Amino acid sequence: MRIAVIGTGYVGLVTGACLAEFGMFVTCVDIDEKKIERLKRGEIPIYEPGLDDIVAKNVKEGRLTFTTNTAEAVKNNLVVFIAVGTPSSDDGSADLRYVDQAARDIAQNLNGYKVIVNKSTVPVGTGQRVKNIIRSIAGEKVRFDVVSNPEFLREGAAVNDFLRPDRIVIGAESEEAIAIMKDVYSAHYLNEAPFVITNIETAEMIKYASNAFLALKVTFINEVANLCEYVGADVHKVAKAMGMDGRIGPKFLHPGPGYGGSCFPKDTRALSYIARSNGYTFQIVDTVIKVNEEQKLRMVDKILKLMNIEKKDGALKGLRFAILGLAFKPNTDDMRESPSITIVNELLNMGAEVNAFDPEAMENAKEFFGDRICYCKGEYEAVKDTDCLVIVTEWNQFRKLDMEKIKSLMRRANLADLRNIYEPSKMKALGFNYTSVGRL
Ligand code: UDX
Repeated sequence: MRIAVIGTGYVGLVTGACLAEFGMFVTCVDIDEKKIERLKRGEIPIYEPGLDDIVAKNVKEGRLTFTTNTAEAVKNNLVVFIAVGTPSSDDGSADLRYVDQAARDIAQNLNGYKVIVNKSTVPVGTGQRVKNIIRSIAGEKVRFDVVSNPEFLREGAAVNDFLRPDRIVIGAESEEAIAIMKDVYSAHYLNEAPFVITNIETAEMIKYASNAFLALKVTFINEVANLCEYVGADVHKVAKAMGMDGRIGPKFLHPGPGYGGSCFPKDTRALSYIARSNGYTFQIVDTVIKVNEEQKLRMVDKILKLMNIEKKDGALKGLRFAILGLAFKPNTDDMRESPSITIVNELLNMGAEVNAFDPEAMENAKEFFGDRICYCKGEYEAVKDTDCLVIVTEWNQFRKLDMEKIKSLMRRANLADLRNIYEPSKMKALGFNYTSVGRL
């Protein structure tokens, strides 16, 4: 089986490397020459546990190659994955210019039957759009199929998610394309991963509905946590007991400063837009988007309340904050739509000085904060002479800090634990003025 993957971003690179790991011959294509040169040397542009080993191994064994030559990659392969970016436009809709370009590149190089697979998260209807673009360029006689095969990879666990998926969704219009896709995923098939075979539009919808539902679940528990604070309940116990109900399930019930990342914010906005442009208002999703924005700001109010400071211009002048964790979640260097962006900017706007440390995201963070914050080498350096410690991302290494030492290094012992990684009673006993999200 010979496969081309257009786009070596997060999804494309993981997909290409993992399919090679399963014995396929994969050519990964990108227009970015520097990126391709780096990949050829085995340098991975993103931080993703396990990916470097898989790339190195499969390059060495000759199953994984990198090129900027889209034409050759299309001509030489039976299956062509489109895994290019679909960023948010200003109105919330997905910007499809890279998908369209990929479709045109494929159309100009069709030299026989091909299966063209949409792997990028694309609005419902994009499969047909790709089909129309290819048809209009390649003509009526050329045979090809378009397939929707959405990914459900989590950053930080993407390799594992690819190798052991909960399900594989294939939206296709011909038996031939379905059979080829089953070949592509033959290793998964043997491992009895469940397959959902459906039409293209349904497959496209599954991806949006899944991500929006997960965003809803996180937002729901965030609101439960907020209410817990008013009524004196402990959200951890509430979530634990809720999760014991098999209909609810225990995952994605951890409250925090709001979801971020490259998927949930973008996909909820896109789903809302898809609904609106079809004459329907997806009220729950619209509310999730709004509540999540408010949750990030609520964290700033929480910090002010902890420190007994009134919200106003210049309120934080002369105060220094330590921020632990900048990435939108642990095990990634991804800063996209991270709650840390809103929180740090709000603190800076009120005149605060900010020290920050993240194990992986410091370089990417510089794009957002420039020289407006101080980038520290470690946790203990970051907390030195600060008035408040704010834990924004729950990296494992932040769970095991010497909190007595932290307290002794700080100017004042204020602790805003926005990921609930410490036991409130222990922190209070240590003398911290402590706040969490929805715990007693
Ligand atoms: C998500 C989906 O899980 C994945 O299937 C999809 O393909 C891409 O989007 P990812 O963005 O990598 O993956 O992160 P995920 O682990 O799902 O977390 C998303 C956000 O929700 C993060 O900001 C995280 O901190 C937050 N979250 C998650 C919570 O606040 N609480 C939870 O209980 C779970």
